[in-house]
Parts: sequence; structure tokens; C-alpha cells
Amino acid sequence: MQGLTAELIKGLWYVAAPGRDLKPGKMLNKTLVGEPVLMGRAANGEVFAIRDVCPHRGIPLHYGQFDGQSIQCCYHGWRFDTSGTCVEIPSLREGQQMDLAKIKCGSYPCRERQGLIWIFFAKNGETPAEAGQPEPPAMPDFADEVGPRFHIMLPFHCSVDHAAFGLMDPTHAAYVHTSWWFKKGAKKLRPKEKKFAPSELGWSMVRHELPPQNIAYKILGTPVTTEISYMLPGLRIENIRGAKYQATGLTALTPLSEGETEVHQFFWVSAGWMSTFKPIFEHLMRVFLDQDRRVVIQQREGLMHQPNLMLINDADTQARWWMRVKDAFLKAQADGKPFENPLRPMTLRWRS
Ligand code: FES
Ligand SMILES: [Fe+2]
Repeated sequence: MQGLTAELIKGLWYVAAPGRDLKPGKMLNKTLVGEPVLMGRAANGEVFAIRDVCPHRGIPLHYGQFDGQSIQCCYHGWRFDTSGTCVEIPSLREGQQMDLAKIKCGSYPCRERQGLIWIFFAKNGETPAEAGQPEPPAMPDFADEVGPRFHIMLPFHCSVDHAAFGLMDPTHAAYVHTSWWFKKGAKKLRPKEKKFAPSELGWSMVRHELPPQNIAYKILGTPVTTEISYMLPGLRIENIRGAKYQATGLTALTPLSEGETEVHQFFWVSAGWMSTFKPIFEHLMRVFLDQDRRVVIQQREGLMHQPNLMLINDADTQARWWMRVKDAFLKAQADGKPFENPLRPMTLRWRS
């Protein structure tokens, strides 16, 4: 966690893109988790993800054409179906026998659910089921076909570890998020106390009631309760339940490489009229997330000098948990054993 880069975790599902970014017949190429990925949506509506390298001479396939069924490489016209298997080599002479099914560019397990495209990155070619992660996580209180009402994404020039620390850092808001509409500065820090419990791939801040004076949450109808879960490979899921409406927020950290991370924020809200406020809501989300983005750029200047960093109790205890859970996961994977969560239930106290 000290430096500019962080080890990437394989064997888990990652948020690749919002489904609405891919219209039928369209492709989208990205480096994700260190791999060259070409996503697409076939004419029949199904999404797919293949390795963006032509097995013939290595040119990225995204330079080619996609007709809604197969991708044609721009260099010699070989065609690949959406599972990454070669289906045509135009240069073969008549009668020339070649088993095209053996020529593959490789593909990634890919699911579209609740409006998100998730991709599974295997450690050693294992399937999601073999890795014990048959499906990507589901957002509570919303059906499979319900997409997010709000979404923003900003690229962070930092490793997934530093992005994760920022995400689970309860004491930076008074200094970093100092907009007039959120916090007005670090003048009035208050004591906080929250209960935490381990979960399958991380931990949760146990469900608790929000103060009734909280204006944003009044929209949902008081009383309002919230539960916040943090889990590998860098997900924060906040589920807010009010008397009238429910909302679920997802912050997803998707590393592009060991030192670059995409930060997505999504919101599902059961109140349909909230869509009217989409432009203003997404603007505020972007202002807020941009404050975090700017901090990590400044932090980089210091990290270049390889300082020894500190994590203190209890303000940084969750950052410690992130490293403990990640290390335990990577060790279990290396030893070929099932992951066991090393955390125990705990109450944390800090001022923020
Ligand atoms: S490099 Fe792709 S067809 Fe030759
Ligand atoms: Fe923040």
C-alpha cells in the first residue's frame, strides 16, 4: 500500500461499464485489471468480452469491424465470433483444411445485471464457479432488470489501494469535501461510533438509523436506516431504506493497471420522480468525486519519494482491514485454499 502501485486481484468480478454505454452492434475497448478487453453488444442484445489481441499477428481487434455477430480483424480479415473463436480466414485456398475452432483470441466471463456490465478476471483460467464466485454481487432492493438512475465515472491517477483507502476513510470529508451544500469545513468535528461486522468478502457497517434532520434522507421518508458494505475487489454498497422509498449506492473501483483506477458511482432509487433531477444530481456527484480525485493527484507528489505511511486507530482501521482482507484473499489463492475472512465484529470510534 505504500507506493504508487498495488497488486491486482484476480478471481473476482469487476464493474466494466454501464450497460447503456453499449448499444447493439457496438464495441468498447479498455484495459481492465491489466488485460486488453474488447466488450461488445451483439445484435441480439447479449454482451460479451473478448481479449483485444488478434491471435494471428497481434493487432488489437478493436481496430476492426463488428457487424453485430462477428468481429473482423483490420489486418488480414480473420473473423471471430463473440466467444472469441475464429470463424473465417479469407486467405485460405479452396479445399484447404484448417480447424478454425482451435483458433481463439480468448474471452472473459461477462454478465449484464441491474444495468451494469461485470467481467470476471480469472487467476489461472478458472471459471467463476470454480473460483467460488458464480455471479457478480447483486444490489439489494432492486430487481435484475432495473438499471441505475444516476451514474458518473472519473479516472483516478492512483492505485486501487489508495483509491480504496479514500473510499473507506471516515475523516477526510471535513477537509476535502468542503462544498457549501455538504460540509462547511473542519470547525465542528463530532464524535462518531459505528458497529462493524465481517461479511463474505469484506465487512459492513451494521444497519443503523440516520438522524431525522438529514435533509437528503428525508426524501425517502423517515425513519431511514442504512447499511454500508465494503468488499473485494473494491466495492462499497450503501443500502438506504426509508418509509417510502429505497436507494442503493454503489462505488466500484476498477483498476486499469497497477497504478490507475476507474471510480464509478451508481445510484438506484425507487422514487421515479428523482430522474427529473438527474443533471443536477450527477453534477453534484461529480463535484464531490472530483474532490477525491484531486487529492490523490496531490498525494502522488509525496508518494514518489516512497515515504513510510501510517494507518492510525480508529480512523484508519478500515484501511487496515482492506489490506488484511486483500492479503488473506491473495494468500488463500496462492495456497489453493478457500478464503477465510480474518476480521471479527468490532465497534470503531473517531471524530469527523
Ligand atoms: S493480424 Fe488479425 S487477421 Fe492478421
Ligand atoms: Fe471522499
